[in-house]
Amino acid sequence: MLIRHRHSIRPSEITPEKVFRNRRQLLRDAGLAGSGLFLAAGCAAEDDSPELRKLDVKRGSPFSTDESPNSFEDIISYNNFYEFGLDKSDPARHAGKFKPKPWTVTVAGEAAKTGTFDFDDIVGPHDIEERVYRFRCVEAWSMVIPWNGIPLGDMLKRFEPTSKAKYVAFETVVRPEEMPGQRRRVLDFPYVEGLTIEEAMHPLTLMAIGVYGVELPNQNGAPIRLVVPWKYGFKSIKSIVKITFTEQEPPTTWNLAAPREYGFYANVNPEVDHPRWSQARERRIGGGFFDEKQPTLMLNGYGEQVASLYEGLDLRKFY
Ligand code: MTE
Repeated sequence: MLIRHRHSIRPSEITPEKVFRNRRQLLRDAGLAGSGLFLAAGCAAEDDSPELRKLDVKRGSPFSTDESPNSFEDIISYNNFYEFGLDKSDPARHAGKFKPKPWTVTVAGEAAKTGTFDFDDIVGPHDIEERVYRFRCVEAWSMVIPWNGIPLGDMLKRFEPTSKAKYVAFETVVRPEEMPGQRRRVLDFPYVEGLTIEEAMHPLTLMAIGVYGVELPNQNGAPIRLVVPWKYGFKSIKSIVKITFTEQEPPTTWNLAAPREYGFYANVNPEVDHPRWSQARERRIGGGFFDEKQPTLMLNGYGEQVASLYEGLDLRKFY
C-alpha cells in the first residue's frame, strides 16, 4: 500500500495544465477534490516513479508565450542529460536513483557574499513564477515548456557580485554512483556552462525548480537548473551545485568537446547553421505523425527582449 503525501503528485497524474485544472474544478464541483477519490480518479494505475511536490506558483508572466505547452509526458520522456545516458529515453529510465534532496549550492568568485547554501537559501524569498517558454534544442527540435522558477538575476543580486564579475559560470553535480552516464565519460564531467553577467541578469533568464506546477523531475535537472530561452537548450545546465562569478569567460562543456560546432554564445539563429545541419527549421516534439517542420525564429522569438545584448557583435563569429 502506498502512502501519499497530501501535497505530492505522481508524474503519471500530471496532465497538460488546462486539463489538470479542469479536472480539479470538476472534482471540486462534485465535492471530491482532496478525497481519496480524487487520487483514484486522477490515476488509472499506480506507478513507482518518485512523487513530486506541488509548488505554489504565480501565473500570468508577461514573458510567457501563448503557444500551447507540450504535455508533461513529452517534457519528462524526451530529454538530453548525458549524465544518465545518450538516448533521449535514458534520463527517464536511469534517473530514478538520483537524490536531489538534500541539496546545496556553492557560490564563489567575484561577489561579496560567497559560501555553500542550502537549497531553500539559494532560492530565497522570491515568488515562484510560471514562465511558458519556447525551448529550442541545437539538434533542431523544440518544445513549449511551462517552467517554474525565479529570475536568475534576483537570485544572483543577493550575493552582491563585484564590478569584476563579467561572467557567471555554472557546474553540474558529479555523482557517478547515481548517474550511470558519468561512469562512461562520454563528456568531460562535470558539465559546465556560462553566461555573460548581462545575460545572467536579464529578466528572461530563469533558475527553474519546477515544471507544470511540481518540483523538477530528476531527468529535467532536479532540483535546480538554468533556463535561457533564447539560447540553444545545451546552455540550460541541470542539477547545479556551483555558481561562480568570474572576470574571464568560463569554459563550457560543448565548446570544450567540439569547439568548431558549439560556441560560448549559442544563441538560436536560423541564419547560422551548425556545421553538420541547418538551423533554419525545427521539429516541434509532440506534433504527431505528420509533424511539419516550422521555421526557427531569430533568438527563438525573444529578439525584442534580448537583441540589444548583442548589438555590434558579429553573430557568425560569436556563435
Ligand atoms: N545539463 C547537464 N548537466 N547535462 C546535459 O547533458 N543537456 C543539455 C541541457 N542541460 C545537458 C544539460 C541539452 S543538450 C539540452 S537540449 C537540455 O538540457 C535538455 O533539457 P530537457 O531534457 O529538460 O528538455
